[in-house]
Amino acid sequence: MSVQTAVRRKTAPDIRARKGGEPIVMLTSYHAHTAALVDRHCDTILVGDSLGNVMHGFETTVPVTLDMMILQGAAVMRGSRQALVVVDMPFGSYEASKEQAFHSAARILKETQCGAVKLEGGTRMAETIAFLVERGIPVMGHIGLTPQSINTLGSFRAQGREEASWARIEGDAKAVGDAGAFSVVIEAVAEPLARKITKEIAIPTIGIGASAACDGQVLVLEDMLGLSPRAPKFVRRYGNLGPAIETAIEAYASDVRSRAFPGPEHVYEMKKS
Ligand code: KIV
Repeated sequence: MSVQTAVRRKTAPDIRARKGGEPIVMLTSYHAHTAALVDRHCDTILVGDSLGNVMHGFETTVPVTLDMMILQGAAVMRGSRQALVVVDMPFGSYEASKEQAFHSAARILKETQCGAVKLEGGTRMAETIAFLVERGIPVMGHIGLTPQSINTLGSFRAQGREEASWARIEGDAKAVGDAGAFSVVIEAVAEPLARKITKEIAIPTIGIGASAACDGQVLVLEDMLGLSPRAPKFVRRYGNLGPAIETAIEAYASDVRSRAFPGPEHVYEMKKS
């Protein structure tokens, strides 16, 4: 008889219901092995298009494709059990029309079996969000700094620094909420504005560089682990794994060069880590 207990995976409505309650913990992951670790501690895992920067060394997220997102989304689903997995819709896969967005999002859901998608844009994407939600696709919005728009923004600057720009960002947050998104990421937005939006809208806000006033937080895993060559200034580091990994690689290289490597009798013994 199996002693395994079934684990219920969190859903978009579970996250939606956390508005104003216990803060929502979210981190990115792009692989089965990191997903298994993140899954034990987070409510939701974001397969972010930041994988373009982190895994592939691109300068921006613009070159990321739908196939790349689906491949890594499926890996994260295999590695995790209880967290809601949200997969980013990459640039060019949803902006042309509501129909294009539906076809891309449906491929993501079918081929990864994840629980939701995320897309960038506020008021301009509201109609598309409503179209997806009406057709059974849970959507997480993303407003404030929207990195896929780097070519029109010109730089990755914090948003809402001047009070004059607050109304537009507040309007974006309301539009995303009214369209039926179950939550919204607010990126690089001044604290008073993030606080105001969090009070005003009915869905949970998930901040990244937008203060503790939000209903939850998300960070790029490699940034907070000290593995990214460059991380935004607001990121608090919870580890410094880069040097630790390099020390291990150095030790390995030295063993190989000095022929101090384990012999064939050990090779087929699998050690559990
Ligand atoms: O792609 C990503 O990792 C993201 C987070 C920065 C929110 O969108």
